Amino acid sequence: MSATITPTMTDQLIQDENDHVVQTYKRPPFVIVHGEGSTLFDSEGKPYQDWVAGIAVNALGYNDARLTQAIQAAATGLIHTSNLYYTAPQIELANMLVEKSFADRVFFSNTGAEANEGAIKFARKVQYEKGTHDKTEIVCFTGAFHGRTMGAVALTPKEKYQKAFMPLMPGAVLAEFNNLESAKAAIGSKTAGVIIEPIQGEGGINVATPEFLKGLRELCDQNGAVLIFDEVQCGLGRTGKLWAHEWTGVTPDIMTLAKPLAGGLPIGAILMTNAVANAMHAGEHGTTFGGGPLVTSVAKHVVQRISQPEFLAHVTEVGDYLMERLSEINSPIIKEVRGKGLIVALELTTDVSNIIEQGYEQGLLMVNAGTNVIRFVPPLIIDKANVDNLVDKLTMIFSAT
Ligand SMILES: Cc1ncc(COP(=O)(O)O)c(C=O)c1O
Repeated sequence: MSATITPTMTDQLIQDENDHVVQTYKRPPFVIVHGEGSTLFDSEGKPYQDWVAGIAVNALGYNDARLTQAIQAAATGLIHTSNLYYTAPQIELANMLVEKSFADRVFFSNTGAEANEGAIKFARKVQYEKGTHDKTEIVCFTGAFHGRTMGAVALTPKEKYQKAFMPLMPGAVLAEFNNLESAKAAIGSKTAGVIIEPIQGEGGINVATPEFLKGLRELCDQNGAVLIFDEVQCGLGRTGKLWAHEWTGVTPDIMTLAKPLAGGLPIGAILMTNAVANAMHAGEHGTTFGGGPLVTSVAKHVVQRISQPEFLAHVTEVGDYLMERLSEINSPIIKEVRGKGLIVALELTTDVSNIIEQGYEQGLLMVNAGTNVIRFVPPLIIDKANVDNLVDKLTMIFSAT
């Protein structure tokens, strides 16, 4: 807790991080020690209103009594047995996810990237089982982010993430997001699967149009390809519906989940139809930790709470209010406000890093999505007073910029 970390210790911790942690993250100069609701506190007791939520993870916020209780209860039970054995929490969570979605079956992983790796393999296996062994391509889209592992990063078309790590997984084919003609040119007899975020997160909060997703569904059906929705960031209540694709009326064959699923504990999931699941047989895919009893017990609690109609209505109401209030900020460098529910972008005509840094001084945690977009993916329990506080502070920051 904050009282036990002195300013000298804070400096030392930051120095140690610089010395001993791989420098793949550029962190602001404070150490977070605890959280309450949608507020985080640093080691000097300074509060920060959190618009990041551990990158769209902490849906129930911090120090939530019922979540803590669920974790404590789970920790007194089984922690790990491996997937060699039946354990109740995994099966009960699968029941719950199947009951609440298009899916018939679930495979549990540990992260979003790992869920997408599984989705790629499952799509290829569907084709392999049909005897079309050369049908291996996976179509992805401009602005996509599917993770950092070798398959997922091959479907994440950004030079900074790919260039120095070649060769990546072969068979990735790129089409333009929200451009059906481009998708038509990319999807064909060699396509095993098509992967898309119904709302792109890292790429700048770009919402796929219902027409585009419907077109992809048709193209996949015509070509015998598997349609994969990556809802790692936009799923599980973030848009005000349990699944982001519910807004479009289009259902995939596979959906990947992760981030908020176990309230901040690491978990991922691949939801699929029987047509996909039936292509997979014992021993063809696996994970030591995925779907362990501790995380799945906690995930049951989280899914049960997030899927309540009142909880989802709250996300829609506060999300609409956030977009409305952000649109009121008057600044020549603001280009657009867009999003759905509590996944919202404020696009500027300039680099956003300066605004984010000033946010730290004002007690705001914000994160970018690309160079020009400030992304708001707060705990889903955030309220209208929090929005007003954000907008007051941003108004001040923009007027001084
Ligand atoms: C849409 C999407 N897919 C996949 C991932 C990768 O998830 P993880 O970081 O858990 O591997 C992310 C992470 O930001 C994401 O936003």
